Amino acid sequence: MTRPPKLLVFDSGLGGLTVFAEIVKLRPSADYLYCADDAGFPYGSWQEPELVERVMKLMEGLIADHAPDMIIIACNTASTIVLPDLRLHWPALPFVGTVPAIKPAAERTKSKMISVLGTPGTVTRDYTQNLIAQFAAHCSVTLVGSKRLAGLAESYMHGEGARDADIGAEIGPCFRQEDDRRTDAIVLACTHYPLLVDEFKRLAPWPVEWIDPAPAIARRADQLLGERFGADAPQRQPVSRSIIFTSGARPPAPLVAALARYDLMWAAFAPTA
Ligand code: DGL
Repeated sequence: MTRPPKLLVFDSGLGGLTVFAEIVKLRPSADYLYCADDAGFPYGSWQEPELVERVMKLMEGLIADHAPDMIIIACNTASTIVLPDLRLHWPALPFVGTVPAIKPAAERTKSKMISVLGTPGTVTRDYTQNLIAQFAAHCSVTLVGSKRLAGLAESYMHGEGARDADIGAEIGPCFRQEDDRRTDAIVLACTHYPLLVDEFKRLAPWPVEWIDPAPAIARRADQLLGERFGADAPQRQPVSRSIIFTSGARPPAPLVAALARYDLMWAAFAPTA
């Protein structure tokens, strides 16, 4: 194949940038379209059937308009419920999802006390419960559903800042102590959270390992692309990297600057239906 592969990276907002950044490192020569469903943000508070319906409908339009070769659902909240429907509906298209990194956390913890920090949706999903039963049965697992962190990460990216006290209050419940043991690994089970990981480290009551699955997701995407397109091959034409927002809103200047650091250019979005 002579043209570069086209990847669609999808999230409710800007969290998927943490996954996008890792994929770009492995596949710099692909074309990228990043879709932020900011009109539906935050996904963490949606009911499951409504969210599945929304993502399926959006995907239909995006696939029809952009014909991607691969889709990365860079959102735990959506991945943990919508992946089976997506794969069933588009069996020829590879979908790579993002699910809570409970397995690596359970492998790495020494104290056997881990926490899973996600949206309220993700931490209550059967999918998450099954991962715990399968990989972390030997650990004490604390589930922390944060209502505000994804929004704080969005504000941070919009250049509005996020207050230490607000971040600290959201991560606080992850830190547990029992006799002489304490939490030593925290799963970042929402793609927005690695955007704030430096603040988490600074505000943490003690050092822990913050587990971000983005590099592993990128390796999986790269492997699947390799099977279809071969190794990354430099292109003669410059590759395209654009971002669309389902609200259609033009991003404010600080966000444009943040997106430029990811080499992403804003493009207008026109919904199909
Ligand atoms: N970035 C998303 C995730 O990984 C969700 C944020 C939200 O929309 O609540 O779960």
